[in-house]
Amino acid sequence: MHKREFIRTLGGASLGLLLGDKLWAQYGEQPASALAEDEAFWALIRGKYRLKPDYINLENGYFSMQAEPVLDAFIGQVRSLNYEASYYMRTRQYDDKLAVRKRLAAIGGCSADELIITRNTTESLDTVIAGIDWKPGDEAVMAAQDYGAMLDMFALQARRRGIVNRIVSLPLDPRTDDEIVQLYANAITPKTRLLMVSQMVNITGQILPVRAIADMAHAKGVEVMVDGAHAFAQIDFRIPDLDGDYYGASLHKWLGTPLGAGILYVRSDKIAGLWPVFADSSVPDTDIRKLNHTGTHPCHTDLTIEPAIAFHEMIGIARKEARLRYLQNYWTSRVRGVPRIVLNTPSDPRRSCAIANVGISGIPPAELAKTLLDKYKVWTVAIDTANVHGVRITPQVFISTGELDTFVRALKSIAG
Ligand SMILES: Cc1ncc(COP(=O)(O)O)c(C=O)c1O
Repeated sequence: MHKREFIRTLGGASLGLLLGDKLWAQYGEQPASALAEDEAFWALIRGKYRLKPDYINLENGYFSMQAEPVLDAFIGQVRSLNYEASYYMRTRQYDDKLAVRKRLAAIGGCSADELIITRNTTESLDTVIAGIDWKPGDEAVMAAQDYGAMLDMFALQARRRGIVNRIVSLPLDPRTDDEIVQLYANAITPKTRLLMVSQMVNITGQILPVRAIADMAHAKGVEVMVDGAHAFAQIDFRIPDLDGDYYGASLHKWLGTPLGAGILYVRSDKIAGLWPVFADSSVPDTDIRKLNHTGTHPCHTDLTIEPAIAFHEMIGIARKEARLRYLQNYWTSRVRGVPRIVLNTPSDPRRSCAIANVGISGIPPAELAKTLLDKYKVWTVAIDTANVHGVRITPQVFISTGELDTFVRALKSIAG
């Protein structure tokens, strides 16, 4: 699709606009579950990406490349911003950013007044952790399998403000939601103020029962902050349905924006209680934009969120989620139970989507990742922390089952 044609489609996204009317007639009516297994359809989506032939990229969880039409739109934004320079910044910047916030809020199912664009999940969640008016002895609850930057930020509050962090360890293959809810409940004391929970654990792909955890925490008077780094635009949900007080996500992972885009959601009644990290006296205390004083900032990244949303919506979240879960189950079902191969991701398909983690007993994760790359040209990332020892596998929509067959053959041959 030509760049101008792509940008024109922003208002009315559909698969037909991405693939043309003939293919839309062929594929558009198929249920997402059936389409998930249709390699010919996903080969068409794959054709919208420029993939490096040197390796099979199964590490798309760090950040995921933009589709070519989105990248073209981004380069166009860089050019036009450079062309208009301060004129753009002083005239249209704020209205354009508001329009993008509104599009993101529509995906998240919340009000644009509760959502700001940030650089990433780290900035979003650390803004909350730093913004709470902690008193010495206040407690926070989190999991050892949460993301390191947030755990570090809580550790910093412990050093600086004397808070106490209670860290639970998540089971790799829970049998019930209640098992997880109880784990968090047992860590709550009368001094607990905040509970952090990952919607999808980054090192294992485990999806946690966030709503049940939030209900339990709220019943005990504890606020809830949800780390949605991997869930936003990978699985279908609405932020308010999780009932977190705070929610952060990165858009350069599953929405396919340029690097350096994220969101922070703060429930409207919680905004006034947070201190901003960077002061902005022009914004009232009850306005979420008080948390969004970025200084002069590369707004071409923010502006490209709209084309990325258009591309995402043309595929459709139901089709995307179904395909990603299918890809994960495709390879995990072929290695589960094979001697020496250890899956660190729940066996219940409702508890995971694209991401899974696999180890081989007796082989350190870093060595496994190196062998996969050097010998089999499969790019992954080693995870060797908490109770998780293996390589993380994150296929994106452009990954084919043929590539996963190569990966499965490699794993079986390394496991011997
Ligand atoms: C669960 C989780 N939270 C937070 C982050 C931080 O994301 P970013 O580096 O985009 O800030 C990541 C990154 O991988 C993550 O997986």
